[in-house]
Amino acid sequence: MSNWKKRRKKKLLNEARRTGRIEELQKIKSSKVSSFRESLVEETKSPKLEKERIIENKPVKVSKSPRREKENVRVSKTLAIDYKYPKCFGDIRREFKRGYSDDVFNSLERGRAILSTEEQLRQYLHSYGPMHREKLIKAYQTLFEFLNISKNEKIEIFDYACGQGIGAIVLLNEIEEKKSFNLANLLGITLIEPSNIALECAKSFLDKSAHLYSVNKCFDYLTQRDLKSNDNAIKIHIFSNILDMEVFNVEKLVYMISKTQSGVNYFVCVSALNKDKLDNFMNKFKGHKGFKCLSSLDGSFSNEQEWKMKCNIFKVGG
Ligand SMILES: C[S@@+](CC[C@H](N)C(=O)[O-])C[C@H]1O[C@@H](n2cnc3c(N)ncnc32)[C@H](O)[C@@H]1O
Repeated sequence: MSNWKKRRKKKLLNEARRTGRIEELQKIKSSKVSSFRESLVEETKSPKLEKERIIENKPVKVSKSPRREKENVRVSKTLAIDYKYPKCFGDIRREFKRGYSDDVFNSLERGRAILSTEEQLRQYLHSYGPMHREKLIKAYQTLFEFLNISKNEKIEIFDYACGQGIGAIVLLNEIEEKKSFNLANLLGITLIEPSNIALECAKSFLDKSAHLYSVNKCFDYLTQRDLKSNDNAIKIHIFSNILDMEVFNVEKLVYMISKTQSGVNYFVCVSALNKDKLDNFMNKFKGHKGFKCLSSLDGSFSNEQEWKMKCNIFKVGG
């Protein structure tokens, strides 16, 4: 032991003797100075960490900047919150209904633009809402032929390129209507979307439905931390009207999902066009353990109106 360490040990011993801290005295006698100091650090660290866990039990914002990224720490539900189902999507849309504008409609680029104004959000809900809702309901009805969510099952939802959260909202509307499921068992909803204004809107619609994790990014910037999930929960991954768009690297996205997800995973992929893109995405999971294609649709269905629909529902793991 160096002279410095000896002097330090002696000082600590004297101090413990003076203040009568018997336990510390014994610790100092039986340990090297450095490890004792480490244990002091440990002791002061843990209560603070616990406090942070509780404070952070609220939606976490993420941006591309590394500093903010650190904030995307996943925490378990530590507070008892009364979760409630979101409003029915039809009612949400009615509230946001406003006059039609050609200019705003054109700026949506057939629903593919990254929205940046409130007018665009309203116009999107108004123009595309009913079509997307009908197709999602059809897809979830098919999903529930294979997935029986019982009252106490733990689930987690991922809504990729969520926009205003239509995918997750309609799923929860369906669960509320058709299943007897306790929302306390919904362990989280991860909303991924590059448009900040759309993401904020999704968060407000889904507020208090579950613990929300928001990731304000394009897919190509996703990190493993963004997609963390609970091993014991059934994960439902929603891809509504995104896989047909050529705006991201599909290999990278599949890699990120494969690296982060374990246990049972269901994928619901719905679009109006480009079935080959949906197939390409699904085929990349074919080699994975437990892969099973549950349903594949390339056509349309009618429900008062004729809707073009491409859809793949598949399962991985389990
Ligand atoms: C057709 S909208 C679908 C929105 C929502 N899922 C729905 O069904 O209504 C496409 C969404 O993809 C988002 N997006 C555009 N480029 C993206 C990218 N590179 N990575 C992830 N999302 C992107 C847009 O901001 C938009 O919200």
